[in-house]
Amino acid sequence: MKQIKIEGGIKLSGTINVGGAKNSAVALVPASILSDEEIVIDNIPEISDIDALDEILEYLGANVTRTKNSMKIDSKSIVNKEIPENISKKLRASYYFMSALLGKYKHVEMYFPGGCSIGARPIDQTLKGFRALGADVQEVNNKFIIDAKELKGANVYLDMPSVGATINTLLVAVKAKGKTVIENAAKEPEIVNVATFLNNMGAKIKGAGTSRITIEGVERLHKCYIEVIPDRIEAGTYIIAGALIGENLKVNNLIPSHIENLLSKLKEMNVDIEVGDDYVNVSSKNINNMKPIKVKTLGYPGFPTDLQQPLVTLLTQANGISTLEETIYENRFQNVEYLNKMGSNIDIFDKKIFIKGPTKLHAETVKATDLRAGACLVLAGLMSNGVTTVTNVEHVLRGYENIIEKLTNVGAKIKLEEI
Ligand code: EPU
Repeated sequence: MKQIKIEGGIKLSGTINVGGAKNSAVALVPASILSDEEIVIDNIPEISDIDALDEILEYLGANVTRTKNSMKIDSKSIVNKEIPENISKKLRASYYFMSALLGKYKHVEMYFPGGCSIGARPIDQTLKGFRALGADVQEVNNKFIIDAKELKGANVYLDMPSVGATINTLLVAVKAKGKTVIENAAKEPEIVNVATFLNNMGAKIKGAGTSRITIEGVERLHKCYIEVIPDRIEAGTYIIAGALIGENLKVNNLIPSHIENLLSKLKEMNVDIEVGDDYVNVSSKNINNMKPIKVKTLGYPGFPTDLQQPLVTLLTQANGISTLEETIYENRFQNVEYLNKMGSNIDIFDKKIFIKGPTKLHAETVKATDLRAGACLVLAGLMSNGVTTVTNVEHVLRGYENIIEKLTNVGAKIKLEEI
């Protein structure tokens, strides 16, 4: 078990470089097996979710060369075998292997994926996509046996713009016969990154980033190179840290348009920010003059659910009552109990929370129940006087690259401990 200890109240200044997007990289790595030639992916974040996917690649027999932020993947020698449940359960993104293997071999056997426990997270839309393209899906004891005589392009209407179902349908459709149209597709930047990757391999995808994606199936996919886009959620988390306790904190290497949803809310709150071409400078100079806001999470380009929990820490410092409505996940307020233990005044009513600010936060021992809840509590620890201990931080390390090093470099007193 790992925990993070933070001696709070120390101003953060200097530069934090944002790494590659977790939610892009975790799709690009499984997608690479669709090609029979060598794939190079750069700007891969150093997070444990990537280690888990690497483990699956090696288990299947791929030849993987990994350097600090780069992966060379050669899948010529992979074998289509069942991925053990203890590996696939480590993360949500393991199910991108389900679709990549199905797309490549027309047969796959795999268990239900893992991921943060923030809601039910069914995979019915992914299975709907598989079935529409001609696959037969059997579920026995949490295991899926999926088989197709032929994969044929089709029209797939997603009931909700699911990121996972959009990517999974793409991965199966790129090598299916004929044309597939995904309607009500998710529009997240990570989907554009995945589609660009597949097109670089020779796929024919149009419309990624809009709600209608069309795919003309091709027979072969070849070698290619791709860079993972900057992680908009990591960027947003550090910008919020700067709003809480920054002194000219520069959050560098980001795409501002990807976080417009956050930046516009911070401006509305009166946070001191300057937005550059690929960076944001932020300070906590206006912390005592922040206005409360109303936020509702939505699919991109709406306010991201993944930034909702980190934002709550900032809302505890606004002057008045902020309202936050979570519309994507039914169980993404587990951070509230611990934030309240640190001194916040937050009430939960069904899908909404009401944050009464400002409240002084104090150091406590708190638990990271999931990845972004952990980020919320680390942020709270950074601004609270005393030593905060955040336990269960395996969740945090799954998604925040070198978080200890990045925060230490800008002045934070933070360390990781094995207990
Ligand atoms: N949904 C269904 N059926 C489906 C698919 C989704 O009901 O078949 C529902 C989900 O239960 C949820 C909503 O639709 O209520 C959206 O789910 P989506 O499929 O878009 O999410 P995901 O693909 O499972 C990814 C990210 C999440 C991020 C969401 C939304 C990865 C590996 N995960 O999840 O990231 O919150 O999109 O943007 O890409 C995180 O990074 O902390 C994280 C949880």
